[in-house]
Amino acid sequence: MSKILVTGGAGYIGSHTVVELIDVGFEVVIVDNFSNSTPDSIKGIEKITGVLPKLYEADCSDVLRMRQLFIDEKDIEGIIHFAALKAVGESVEKPLDYYRNNLLSTINMMQMLREFNGRYMVFSSSCTVYGQPDVLPVTEQTPRKPAMSPYGNTKRVGEDIIQDTVNASEGIYAIALRYFNPIGAHPSAEIGELPLGKPDNLVPFITQTAAGIREKLQIFGDDYNTPDGTAIRDYFHVVDLARAHVLALKRMMEGKSRNSYEVFNVGAGRGITVLEIVKAFEKVTGVKLNYEIVGRRAGDIEKVWADTSLAQSELGWKAQNTLEEALLTAWNWEKRIRIIKG
Ligand code: NAD
Ligand code: WQD
Repeated sequence: MSKILVTGGAGYIGSHTVVELIDVGFEVVIVDNFSNSTPDSIKGIEKITGVLPKLYEADCSDVLRMRQLFIDEKDIEGIIHFAALKAVGESVEKPLDYYRNNLLSTINMMQMLREFNGRYMVFSSSCTVYGQPDVLPVTEQTPRKPAMSPYGNTKRVGEDIIQDTVNASEGIYAIALRYFNPIGAHPSAEIGELPLGKPDNLVPFITQTAAGIREKLQIFGDDYNTPDGTAIRDYFHVVDLARAHVLALKRMMEGKSRNSYEVFNVGAGRGITVLEIVKAFEKVTGVKLNYEIVGRRAGDIEKVWADTSLAQSELGWKAQNTLEEALLTAWNWEKRIRIIKG
């Protein structure tokens, strides 16, 4: 049984990926400092899988702590590296916190692979590296644009750190997955997205508004060059994203990589407007959403969606869940954590 270290495994995408890894027989070790999560997600993982993964509460940017972890665990074969700070706006206010946390963590993980003869790295990258692309949909060949935030920079530079290290290291393989917009929660409603404070992202804001925690959703701009004027993104189910990590790991382990460093877009491969999300949510849940149109949010791009044909042909991955399924699971998770009456 291969032992995989999942950094940030208590977080939103990490916890869903741990479930999929356990389901196919990997031994999972989690490291998380709970800066943006709680140990409840570990209990959720145990409820779903019947397995309590080993947990280290530690900071990935602390190289001495990470070295001790690798000494204690001995035979970690691969790392799925989720641990990062991810609030775009906050990264503009606190750039050094973001560079320190995200880049040091990535450097340390690559160094541990080298020091302890680990072989595989799956990295959480982001469609943010494309900025506003000139041609849609975006393929992996679409040029990366200078990042619009320190957060975005940590993804672009994180990719480069990994690629350069792999190029300089015999026997280490890496895959960067560029996620588009993951939404939803595990169908069991045992794990899901847990925004601390006011959510930045659209779907958590919608579910909190529907639950009465927020008075109304503000839709940021209806004057974009899109069919209904609201911005377009590529939303897809987080369980599908979790599966992509398992396939990426297996590809490397089975010797199927074409290069020691590879990149794949991971999204549904279609664009959805904000208003379409609102309408779909109302339809699938039967809950009417209070919303208003306000001005554009600074730094937002107009539209982006993925060409996912490479992930399909090379990884055998395709988003399977519908938008409606994703929104329904997001709502069930919200109800689960808020315990709504009636
Ligand atoms: P999340 O905040 O829920 O999960 C990240 C986890 O990492 C948290 O549990 C946090 O406590 C932990 N963490 C952060 N810094 C750490 C450190 N130094 N040491 C140990 N643990 C640390 O976020 P998420 O949405 O699950 O995102 C996971 C990854 O995917 C991140 O790298 C994020 O940048 C990337 N990503 C997310 C999205 C998205 O829309 N959610 C899109 C693209 C990329
Ligand atoms: C989606 C759409 C908003 C909230 C972020 C990160 C990006 C990447 C993905 C990590 C936009 C609109 C939102 C609200 C709204 N993450 N919106 N009212 O903008 O694609 O990007 O997540 O790598 O780096 O920036 O996602 O969910 O914030 O917004 O109208 O209250 O919903 O303007 O058009 P986005 P999002």
